[in-house]
Amino acid sequence: MTETSETDGTAGKSRASDEVWIVGATGRVGRGVTARLTARGLTVVPVGRGRERMLAAGTEAGLPGDAKVIVADSAERIADEIVRERPRVVVNTMGAFAATAPVIARACMPGGHYVDLANDVVAVDRLLALHDEAVRAGSTLVTGAGFGVLATEAVVAKLCEGRPTPHRVRVDAVASVAVEAGVLGAALAASIVDALTAGGRRYENGRLMTSRLGADPQQLIFPDGESAKSAGVSSGELLAAHAVSGAPFVTATSALVPTAPLIRALLPLLGRLLSVPALRRLAVDRLGRAPVKAAPRPRKHSWGHAVVEWADGTRHEGWLRADDGMDFTADVTATVTELLARGVGRPGAWTPAAALGTDLATTAGGTFVLD
Ligand SMILES: NC(=O)c1ccc[n+]([C@@H]2O[C@H](COP(=O)([O-])OP(=O)(O)OC[C@H]3O[C@@H](n4cnc5c(N)ncnc54)[C@H](OP(=O)(O)O)[C@@H]3O)[C@@H](O)[C@H]2O)c1
Repeated sequence: MTETSETDGTAGKSRASDEVWIVGATGRVGRGVTARLTARGLTVVPVGRGRERMLAAGTEAGLPGDAKVIVADSAERIADEIVRERPRVVVNTMGAFAATAPVIARACMPGGHYVDLANDVVAVDRLLALHDEAVRAGSTLVTGAGFGVLATEAVVAKLCEGRPTPHRVRVDAVASVAVEAGVLGAALAASIVDALTAGGRRYENGRLMTSRLGADPQQLIFPDGESAKSAGVSSGELLAAHAVSGAPFVTATSALVPTAPLIRALLPLLGRLLSVPALRRLAVDRLGRAPVKAAPRPRKHSWGHAVVEWADGTRHEGWLRADDGMDFTADVTATVTELLARGVGRPGAWTPAAALGTDLATTAGGTFVLD
C-alpha cells in the first residue's frame, strides 16, 4: 500500500527536484538525519511504513506537523514513488542494504542521487557495481555514509596521500555509542545476523578471501589512553580500505565482534545456523524485539584506526576521533546528503571519502590524529 500526503495541494512534481527523501525516518539514524537536514533548510520528506509515526518523528525533528510524508512499506514500493516524483536525493536507512540498496539507488537514476549506511561486503559491493550506470545517468551514489565506512576509509586515504601503493593495510573500527531505551530494532538486528552469517573476509595478494570471523584479535590503545578489543570482520570498511590504498593485503577488525575465546570459537557454528533462512528470520525477529536499556556510551570517543605498511618496511598509523558513533553517523549521512543536494559530487558509485574527499570526515565532526 502506497499513499502520498501533500498538504499544499500541488502535485509534488513541480518541486520534487528540491526534495530530500529519508527512507526510515522513524529510525534512530533517520530521525537524526531528518533533524540535521531540516535545521540546514533542506526540503525533507520522511518515507516509511507508519504515517502517524513519521509525522510524530518529523515534528520532533523540526518538520511542520502537516509535512508531506510518503507511506510505502518495501524497497520496491519506495522505488515506484521515487520514479514517479523524482526527489533530488534519497537517503536509505531502512537496512537490509544488500537487497534494498540496488532497488532504491536504481530508481534514483537518471539524475537523482542516493546515500546509504551499508557496511557489509555484499551490500557495498553491489552498490559500487552500479558505478558505470551511475556515471551514464549523471547520478552520485554513496554507500557506507556513516561511522562505518568513513571513519576508517578517511584515515587510510590520508595515510596514503602522496605516497606509493602500500603493501599491507589494517583498519580497526571502534564506535562508542549511547544506547536508547526501547528495542534493538529490526534493521540493526538484521545487520548483526548478516555479519554473523557472512563470516570473515580479507584481501590476500589482491584477492578477497574467506577468513574466520573474529580472526586477528587486537588490543587497541587509543591516543586518549582508553582501550578496547576488536577482531576480524567482513565489512564494507575492508572493501573501501582496499580500494582507496590499492594494497594487496588488507584486513579489517571491529569492536562489535566478540573477542572472548569461547564465543569466538562458537562464531562459525552460529553463522552456519543463522544462514538457514527460517532461523535467520526468527533470529532477526527476536533480536529486533529485544528490549534494550538506556546506557551512556562506554568510552568518551569513537575511533577509526589504520595501520599502513610499505614493502620497504615503512609504517604509518593514524586515527580518526569522533564523539558518539551514532551522532557521527547521522552527521556523516547529513553532510553527504547536503553536498549531493547542492550539486557537489561526481557521477558514479562511491564510498564516502572516494566521492567527497577526506575533508568530509572533519566537516562531519571528526578529528584526524596522524603520526
Ligand atoms: N554504517 C554505519 O556506521 C551505520 C551506523 C548506524 C546504523 N547503520 C545501519 O543503518 C540502518 C538503520 O539503523 P537504525 O539504528 O536507524 O535502525 P532503526 O532504528 O531500526 O530504523 C530503521 C528504519 O527503517 C524503517 N523500515 C524498516 N523496514 C522498512 C520497510 N520494509 N519499509 C519501510 N521502512 C522500513 C523503520 O520503520 P518502522 O518505524 O516502520 O519500523 C525505521 O524507520 C541499519 O541497517 C544499521 O545497521 C549503519
